[in-house]
Amino acid sequence: MALDSPPAGPVLGIESSCDETAAAVLDGSGKVLAERLISQRREHAPYGGIVPEIAARAHLAYLPDLVREAIAEAGVRYDDLAAVAATAGPGLIGGLIVGSQVAKGIALTAGCRYLAINHLEAHALTPRLPGVGSAEFPYLLLLVSGGHSQWVAVEGVGNYQLLGQTIDDAAGEAFDKVGKLLGLPWPGGPALEQLATGGQPDRFRFPRPLAGRPGCDFSFSGLKTAVARAIAQFPEGPLPLADAADIAASFQRAMGDVLADRAGQAIALFARLHSEGRLLVASGGVAANMALRSALAAVAAGSGFSLFAPPARLCTDNAVMVAWAGIERLRLGMANGLNAPARPRWPLEEMAG
Ligand code: KG4
Ligand code: ZN
Repeated sequence: MALDSPPAGPVLGIESSCDETAAAVLDGSGKVLAERLISQRREHAPYGGIVPEIAARAHLAYLPDLVREAIAEAGVRYDDLAAVAATAGPGLIGGLIVGSQVAKGIALTAGCRYLAINHLEAHALTPRLPGVGSAEFPYLLLLVSGGHSQWVAVEGVGNYQLLGQTIDDAAGEAFDKVGKLLGLPWPGGPALEQLATGGQPDRFRFPRPLAGRPGCDFSFSGLKTAVARAIAQFPEGPLPLADAADIAASFQRAMGDVLADRAGQAIALFARLHSEGRLLVASGGVAANMALRSALAAVAAGSGFSLFAPPARLCTDNAVMVAWAGIERLRLGMANGLNAPARPRWPLEEMAG
């Protein structure tokens, strides 16, 4: 479905693919007019992970009010909207259905466009959001979140080449599992980063899976198992804080070394495809981690690249990035019909064409 002209009006973005319920309104240029987000941490924390049915029900309970509040704060009317953009995949099917159906309902009654947004594309395009970054195509993307760890050559909107990915756990999953082993609140990433600040990163020598190997795939499950073994050496019961901090710091150092090693390989692969590209972008929840960012920045600098990572609140899930991906698509004349499905599985490289 093609448009004749670029959008004049604001775009409402909706995110509900995982455990954040969010709505945002951006004007046609990408300026954020209003932003609302509720994290479902409290709902899922007792289970140590996301319970899909609880997530779907919570999205349904929170989303209508969040949308109303975002529209009111933005000072726009539904009739003013150029489009409603909702994450349509990949993610948990219940949440995807809630978000995309709400979006379609609004688009239908407001008489505006509907955009089915790929969540990974939204993370990938965040570094182009005005006021945040000015990434120009092509760039190399490290997408590290709770469900994905991949290297992607971002060549244009809808144009992505997968260079490598995890062969087992995602990076965020590794943080979350190690956090659980250390008795940290879920999700483990942010708490583990904080705990690691007081620890010695060289006390435990955890493995660096796939380091030095060709290609830029990841593997994290052996690292997690090594941490579990180290913890099992201690007497039963809660770990002393200093030991927990040393384990957290040593694990984070191993993650940093792995990302740095894989970054060197990914940069070389990317440079073969795009000799003019000089930008490495890190996005997704794990990219909020400052220690990992510095490890990546050092490798990038050594290869003549610079590292850009959005501010932490735009690395983790949010609706601003969804609305922005919608604006990028609208500008190219792209939009979806109201029959566009929610897609629990939707790899980036299946977007071309
Ligand atoms: O992108 P995101 O918010 O949701 C998904 O699309 O998965 O990523 C969530 C993941 C979780 O695994 C969380 O533990 C991790 O990102 N994370 C972090 C940090 N903040 C969030 N991992 C390491 N350090 C952090 N500061
Ligand atoms: Zn995400």
